[in-house]
Amino acid sequence: MSGRHIDARHNYNLRKTMTPQQIADMFNDFADDYEEEYKGLGLCSHLRIGEYMAETYPEHQRAALQVLDVGAGTGYVGETLSELGFKRIDALDPAQKMLDVAKTKHVYERLICAFLNKNRIDEIETDQYDCITAAGAFNEGLIPVCAFLEMIRIVKPGGRIIFTITDKYIANTDGYRKELLPFIQKMADEGAWDITAVPLADGAIHRPDGPGMLYSFKVNVTEKHL
Ligand SMILES: C[S@@+](CC[C@H](N)C(=O)[O-])C[C@H]1O[C@@H](n2cnc3c(N)ncnc32)[C@H](O)[C@@H]1O
Repeated sequence: MSGRHIDARHNYNLRKTMTPQQIADMFNDFADDYEEEYKGLGLCSHLRIGEYMAETYPEHQRAALQVLDVGAGTGYVGETLSELGFKRIDALDPAQKMLDVAKTKHVYERLICAFLNKNRIDEIETDQYDCITAAGAFNEGLIPVCAFLEMIRIVKPGGRIIFTITDKYIANTDGYRKELLPFIQKMADEGAWDITAVPLADGAIHRPDGPGMLYSFKVNVTEKHL
């Protein structure tokens, strides 16, 4: 094992002082070992997202739906969705080496190397996707709350943003603790999305990190500004 910020791979507190680029570099250095290490730690967010997608989208619709998997990493979500019959899946991740591994799975159409944050991603059109998925992409140093505005822009009205998060990550992550749940409710109150929240038991997302939630936001608008 080698690379920058090795200790921050599993100790999320150490990410608090890292820049987004340092986090991406950490994942670049981690790409070859990621699957072995995370399988051992029982990361199964992608399975929960696959189950929800299978319940939500009937089989005959799946092949045509345009999905963007954000924080795609080495492609666990893409593999899961591909097995379920979703065929038009793009991947987005700021760590090119994680995307290089994902590419070998042959389940993604486009692989976009970019950060999801408050900035507009120019290569993605407004209302381009039917669905955004994010597995393991909401914890310290990863996708910030402001990125939901860009997600709203790129998801079609009627489309969905689907992700999991553990209660522990909300409580321990500086950028989420005070902001995430109020922001989710504010968007609902203003009609930007309708919330479905599915409680997930201890270990259902990531074995060491306790219970959490699968969120599915049905987006009602083309764009939302604060
Ligand atoms: C724990 S991995 C999860 C990978 C994959 N979804 C899975 O289930 O195994 C988190 C990924 O989020 C990516 N990431 C970090 N910051 C991000 C951001 N601002 N926008 C999108 N992805 C980000 C990392 O590069 C990393 O590949």
